[in-house]
Amino acid sequence: MILVSVKTRDFQKYITLGATPGCGAPARARPLYVWPQTMATTPAVRTLFTRFPMLSLRLPLRALADLPTPVERFAGLEDALGAAPLYVKRDDLSGATFGGNKVRKLEFLLGAALAAGARTAITVGAAGSNHALATAICCRQLGLRPALMLYPQPNAHVVRQNLLADLWTRADVHAFQDYAEHRANLRGLVAHYREQDHAEPCVIPTGGSNPVGAAGYVNAGLELAAQIADGALERPTRIYVALGSMGTVAGLWLGLAVAGVRTTVVGVRVTPPAIASEERLAELITQTASMLHGLDPSFPLPDPSVDPPLVDHRFFGGEYARFTPESVAAVHLAHDSAGMALDGTYTGKALAGLIADVKAGKATEPLMFWNTRNSRPLPEEALRGDYHRLPSALWRYFEEDVQPLDREERTDHGAH
Ligand SMILES: Cc1ncc(COP(=O)(O)O)c(C=O)c1O
Repeated sequence: MILVSVKTRDFQKYITLGATPGCGAPARARPLYVWPQTMATTPAVRTLFTRFPMLSLRLPLRALADLPTPVERFAGLEDALGAAPLYVKRDDLSGATFGGNKVRKLEFLLGAALAAGARTAITVGAAGSNHALATAICCRQLGLRPALMLYPQPNAHVVRQNLLADLWTRADVHAFQDYAEHRANLRGLVAHYREQDHAEPCVIPTGGSNPVGAAGYVNAGLELAAQIADGALERPTRIYVALGSMGTVAGLWLGLAVAGVRTTVVGVRVTPPAIASEERLAELITQTASMLHGLDPSFPLPDPSVDPPLVDHRFFGGEYARFTPESVAAVHLAHDSAGMALDGTYTGKALAGLIADVKAGKATEPLMFWNTRNSRPLPEEALRGDYHRLPSALWRYFEEDVQPLDREERTDHGAH
């Protein structure tokens, strides 16, 4: 394969391009919706590039995000908890069309895909994956074809919403019985798209959490450091954020460490320990730092065992995407006290961690909650599709009840 630029080769090993022969999947029509195309090409103004200009020449990026995201006081919640100041980083507003944490990663991941000549981006996630939907939307904004490989999860209203929105993007949706079946089919799907595109498709891992994706959160850490330096907020002693595939916490910790901001990043684990753990987190931090250092030797290599990120294991609830009484209570508290919509899978659990620590006197203010969920409403038409146009393995999310804690009281407070 011919690379678009010589610089691309420097980080080639950090992105996965396709590899082998196999299956077939139906091609779909182009979308009717007119996607706001992003015209920007690299370099974009990003704190990471301001601080390390060589990276702007070597790390392809396609601007998708509205940055910096605001920092606000979580005023109603401060009153409810009797803790102030309590800040919230509004990454839920990170993109004009779709916000949340994935957009920051996708700027780099899809920038790399385009620089490598890909025409399709294949990614994987649970049926209601925010990452899969964000990838589909961002792909359309950049003229790439999204292909989503989805595996089962507990049912929730948000799963239905995201599946309908996937349909609306005209992404190619492929359903699998489990993660292992997705692995077994990946090579075949890559071969299928290679043949259709006459180009290698780009394969983006779960949650976009490889060193290239994590670079988006290195930028976020440097961005927050700049906001602290500008006086937008006091330095928080702790920052609470959901820990799923770990790219968010890994990049954030690294960006803050490089900026010299002394704070503790608390990753509230929402995925099984085989996916998210202290060891794997340290490994991703080290890999991300060494990728950036390799591209720009002035990028430091902080030791993740010094002031390491903390992993809070208490709020997982035994299964990914299983709502818990604590996460549901946190979602309601954020909504009722501050009008902030959170979710039961990620942000509710992260806020539950903060609440528990405040109540136990373990966390002293100033504190920060990092809102990683999308709060941009999708167009109404996005949720009007017919689920029968999805693979039949996914119909059950529309035909079976949602999980009990999502059933009793809607916990998405009008998501989208
Ligand atoms: C809303 C939300 N918050 C947090 C996360 C976790 O981020 P990461 O996978 O980078 O750990 C995700 C991942 O899908 C998410 O969708």
